Amino acid sequence: MTKLICNVVGARPNFMKMAPVVLELKRRRIPQVLVHTGQHYDTNMSQIFFDQLGMPEPDVYLGVGSDTHARQTARIMAAFEEVCQKRQPDLVVVGGDVNSTMAVALVAAKLHIPVAHVEAGLRSFDRTMPEEINRVVADHLSELLFTTEESGKENLLKEGIEKQKIHFVGNCMVDSLLKHVDVAVKRSPWDAFDLTPRSYGLLTLHRPSNVDDPKILKPLIEVVNRVSRNLPIVFPVHPRTRERMKKSGIKVAPSLILCDPLPYLDFIGLMAKARLVLTDSGGIQEETTVLKVPCLTLRWNTERPITLTSGTNRLVGTDPQKIERSVTQILKGKWPKGKRPRFWDGKAAVRIVDVIQKKFR
Ligand code: UD1
Repeated sequence: MTKLICNVVGARPNFMKMAPVVLELKRRRIPQVLVHTGQHYDTNMSQIFFDQLGMPEPDVYLGVGSDTHARQTARIMAAFEEVCQKRQPDLVVVGGDVNSTMAVALVAAKLHIPVAHVEAGLRSFDRTMPEEINRVVADHLSELLFTTEESGKENLLKEGIEKQKIHFVGNCMVDSLLKHVDVAVKRSPWDAFDLTPRSYGLLTLHRPSNVDDPKILKPLIEVVNRVSRNLPIVFPVHPRTRERMKKSGIKVAPSLILCDPLPYLDFIGLMAKARLVLTDSGGIQEETTVLKVPCLTLRWNTERPITLTSGTNRLVGTDPQKIERSVTQILKGKWPKGKRPRFWDGKAAVRIVDVIQKKFR
């Protein structure tokens, strides 16, 4: 196959979703170019993930950085258009739901370059989430839609997307997790916090709806402070959240252990041996389901319903009582073990590259 594939990444959750695709294309010696938009740029949010996932260095780095949604999206679009004009790819592959995903899909579609979307069809049905808008736009511009769970296909069909474009391939984020989790656990990342396996919880919090308004963020941290008195909680703090906490002068209990965003291996190692996870992330809901670790999602909706119906995830929103009650249940051992969803088996990227090769044959 002499076609050129252009893979694009931009922000932290893209790296583990796209790494398996990039590596599988490389294994099959399919020509590719890797573009990093630079939406995330701190070492701990970007470079360290490339290193730990064994990703090749990007061929092109757009260096767009942070800004308002419109300005960030516009900068990615202008820079990526030049890449497409110069490199003339035959397919652009994007993953997930970040601003880079949508911006790049829009540019490629307008240049009549087919787009493939990894993790297509997920819907929270909440258009106040920037990610929901990014998903809808990317999906409707894509020729190949790779879904992770059955709900993806149902959502896309309801939106009028042709059946033959949709391919249920499984979950690339799980490909990365299964490949690296054993090594990650062997590194005993809990030692750095003076903790032992299953004796701690893990918290992540970065969604604008949870962190931007102190009236929501403060009670959330307060309830975690209380919970942490029975179970120490490690909290790798996203740059956005750190800034908001500082601004509002929010205090944390000594048993809520703050640290910088963690490298991939440290994070999945800690997650694998956590007693429970509290999060507003999308991907972590899926990773905890695979690891069979109880997960409380600090949101009122999820675009990943399979983690509720088959997995260990439950929605607790931002209701302190609900959060505390659920933690008590978990600590009493009253929590479903869950079942790993279909095709979350470490082979999603193999299926994706099979479909891509078939398209070009
Ligand atoms: C983005 C994604 C979100 C994803 C999250 C994971 C969008 C709309 N959102 O949100 O879906 O779950 O990444 O982290 O694309 N910053 C740094 N260093 C960095 C990157 C960001 O300090 O390397 C700070 C900047 O102050 C920036 C803020 O974090 O303004 C937010 O970054 P941004 O990329 O706009 O969105 P995230 O909140 O990270």
